[in-house]
Amino acid sequence: MRQPAHGGNLAWAAALAGCLPNAILDFSASISPLGPPNSAIAAIQSQIGNIKHYPDPSYSELRLALSHFHQLPSEWILPGNGSAELLTLAGRELAELAATILITPAFGDYYRTLTAYNAKVLEFPLDLGVKSDPLQSTTLQRQRYSEPAPQEDQPCVDDERVFELVDAQRTALQARVASSVFLTQATGVASTSVDTSQGKSPSKGSAVGESAQLRSQSRCLDDLSFFLDEEQQTNELGLLLNNPHNPTGKLFSCESILPYLEQFALVVVDEAFMDFVPPDEEQSLISLVQEYTNLVILRSLTKFYSLPGLRLGYAIAHPERLAKWQLWRDPWPVNTLAAAAAIAALQDQEFQKQTWAWLPSARGQLFEGLSTIPGLQPWQSAVNFLLVESQQSTSQLQQQLLQHYQILIRDCLSFQELGDRFFRVAVRSESDNQRLLTALESVVSAEYY
Ligand SMILES: Cc1ncc(COP(=O)(O)O)c(C=O)c1O
Repeated sequence: MRQPAHGGNLAWAAALAGCLPNAILDFSASISPLGPPNSAIAAIQSQIGNIKHYPDPSYSELRLALSHFHQLPSEWILPGNGSAELLTLAGRELAELAATILITPAFGDYYRTLTAYNAKVLEFPLDLGVKSDPLQSTTLQRQRYSEPAPQEDQPCVDDERVFELVDAQRTALQARVASSVFLTQATGVASTSVDTSQGKSPSKGSAVGESAQLRSQSRCLDDLSFFLDEEQQTNELGLLLNNPHNPTGKLFSCESILPYLEQFALVVVDEAFMDFVPPDEEQSLISLVQEYTNLVILRSLTKFYSLPGLRLGYAIAHPERLAKWQLWRDPWPVNTLAAAAAIAALQDQEFQKQTWAWLPSARGQLFEGLSTIPGLQPWQSAVNFLLVESQQSTSQLQQQLLQHYQILIRDCLSFQELGDRFFRVAVRSESDNQRLLTALESVVSAEYY
């Protein structure tokens, strides 16, 4: 069976572990352990009788619920079969532009949709402080993904010039990455407090010092703006980015994205994990969508409400754009049960508050536990997963955890910049987190003691 490109592939994991899929403790898919909400389950049950009818193709009730939830007129909202469906439609739009800038490492589905429509991709690597050669790997990737089949009717730019500029910029960036890694290691901050959100209080036990690590991550968007200052021809470019960012867990501020709304022809912000950030800290761009016709926001109900099998997401964008997207797809992408569950979930404020109350301490517990395991360094995260840097091969860790403990972690092999030295884990209940920590300690210690 092939190595999965997404988390949550229990059939693959069970085959490796030699057990049934439901015996696997899954840390690989970043799904809340609190859901699905009872309200959503009850709504599904109440609608079973209606599956003999087609859903309302305009999804008026669902769009009304979303419209109340986001305080936006409902014609600005388009529900979809998971945000993945809407991402595909966004990819089709982006492919009409000269090129799309991707902040990398990027969620694998971005490549799927951009490749499917022969979009040109310019990769803009986050400063991860990884010691491998980022220039080398991203150049390879660019060759792999951004050379579209020639099409007569696509707008044409001087690719060589764009790529030369990006490459020059990458070289400058790389020098700065190198010096920041050195600086980070030299200062090696080790400080004292628990959790985290966004690097305000670095935790102890980190080998490299998360505060410096986060500083270097947050430089990414500034670096992009440096590139844009030099190369102003962005009116034909698209930008696809993820906030909060998967797999780093980094939350970009609205202010850091704002300038790009003026500079890019189309900005698609995937906010699949934004619900996990409590209302007083969230950085959604939804409130700007009526001001910027070139802004598209993608949201998902999969993660926060624990409904990945139901498939429910939505896009927020200008009504004309959404009307066009509607013509690009089948008339009933969201089934009756999913629509009913979504309406109930959106109204379930108790569930939302419970999640915001649960996450910081569960994440802090997992972060602290991981920090104390030799050779592992978790990254601070604003959401319900942690990226962990590992001195051991992650594929080997994954295999041993599966075979000995039936625990599945997400390797990062599909994120080319991360490779075999990172893994990602979802934050689960405190007892599940503890099970993972105990298993990891024992697997890692086989190497360390
Ligand atoms: C960053 C990101 N965006 C979008 C998706 C797709 O989510 P959905 O289940 O809504 O299609 C995922 C799923 O893993 C994701 O990680």
